[in-house]
Amino acid sequence: MKKVRLAVLISGNGTNLQAIIDACENNFLPATVELVISNNKDAYGLERARNSAIDCEVIDHRKFSGREDFDREINSVLEKKEIEFVCLAGFMRLLTGFFVDKWEKRIVNIHPSLLPSFKGVNAQKQALDYGVKITGCTVHFVNKDMDGGSVIMQKAVEIHDGDDEKSLSERILEQENKCYTEALRIILNKYLK
Ligand code: GRF
Repeated sequence: MKKVRLAVLISGNGTNLQAIIDACENNFLPATVELVISNNKDAYGLERARNSAIDCEVIDHRKFSGREDFDREINSVLEKKEIEFVCLAGFMRLLTGFFVDKWEKRIVNIHPSLLPSFKGVNAQKQALDYGVKITGCTVHFVNKDMDGGSVIMQKAVEIHDGDDEKSLSERILEQENKCYTEALRIILNKYLK
């Protein structure tokens, strides 16, 4: 069976990365994680990748004079590794037009709100502050607009009385881990057709 060569870009803990690795390993996804890139050398997700013997690269954005130079470096690492599809999973850098044009329709992201509500950072806190009763997560294609590409899948999460940012983020994250792999299954099967 043909498998899609994935790269996952992270900055932190990497639970979504782990969900993707597991879904590849148990054949829920027609894919293999070939590469994990982090802009943060201390990201725990790098440990997760190493535990599964997946190649890792740390590309520190602070070492580049501009955002596009950073993106060009990421792009060249992806090309060297013959990556076909890119998953952003808690990757805390905004990608430039150069990069998103190159990977158009082959790059997806997960965001912890029901887009188009609560774009940007601290989406869970934004939802609590606004007082909505239902929030959730969204898997979407990436375009030039922050959290702006077309939606692939969403899952709703109820906000409970007494929820704080931590408790809400944890419940959303559980749904993120499912939503990401279910959305990828649809998209990657289409990609292979
Ligand atoms: C998730 O909430 C994701 O939506 C956001 O950052 C968090 C990353 O979690 N962009 P993890 O690193 O996958 O555990």
